[in-house]
Amino acid sequence: MEKIVHCILILVLSIFSMKGAMGSINTNRLMNPRTMTFVETQCRRTRYQELCVRTLSNYVNATSQDPQEIAQVALKVSLAKAINTKYYIMKVCKEFNQINKSNKNNNQAAKDCLDQISDGVLNLQILLKSFNI
Ligand SMILES: *[C@@H]1O[C@H](CO)[C@@H](O)[C@H](O)[C@H]1NC(C)=O
Ligand SMILES: *[C@@H]1O[C@H](CO)[C@@H](O)[C@H](O)[C@H]1NC(C)=O
Repeated sequence: MEKIVHCILILVLSIFSMKGAMGSINTNRLMNPRTMTFVETQCRRTRYQELCVRTLSNYVNATSQDPQEIAQVALKVSLAKAINTKYYIMKVCKEFNQINKSNKNNNQAAKDCLDQISDGVLNLQILLKSFNI
C-alpha cells in the first residue's frame, strides 16, 4: 500500500510543479508539529518536496496519521486544482480566438494545452473512482 501511496503522490504533485499557475497557498505555521512531521515524512520521496508539504499541510487532519488519507487528500486537492486550471485555459483559448482568429500557432498551442489538462482531469477522476473516494 505504501508504494502505491508514494506513487500517487509523485504523480499528482508533478502535475502541479508549475508554481505560478497554482495561485498562492499559505504555509500553515500554526500546524500541529506531529502532523507536520507526518506530512514531511510522506513528502520526502516525492519529486517536489517543498510543494508537497506546502500543499498538503493545509488539508491533512491533525489527528490522523494514515498514509492512505494523505493520498486521498493529494488526489482530491489535485483534481480541484486541475479543474480550476482547465477552466483557466479554456478562458485563454477563447481569448486567443477573439484576439486573432487567424493566428493558428497560438490557437493550436492553447488547444494542445487544454487537451493535456483535460486528460489530466480525466485520469485523476478515474483514479479517484478506482479508490472509491
Ligand atoms: C480527524 O481524524 C479523526 C480520527 O480519524 C476524526 O475523529 C476527526 O473527526 C477528524 N477531524 C477532522 C477535522 O476531520
Ligand atoms: C493574426 O495572426 C496572423 C498569423 O500569425 C498575422 O499574420 C496577422 O497579422 C494577425 N493579425 C493581427 C490583427 O494581429
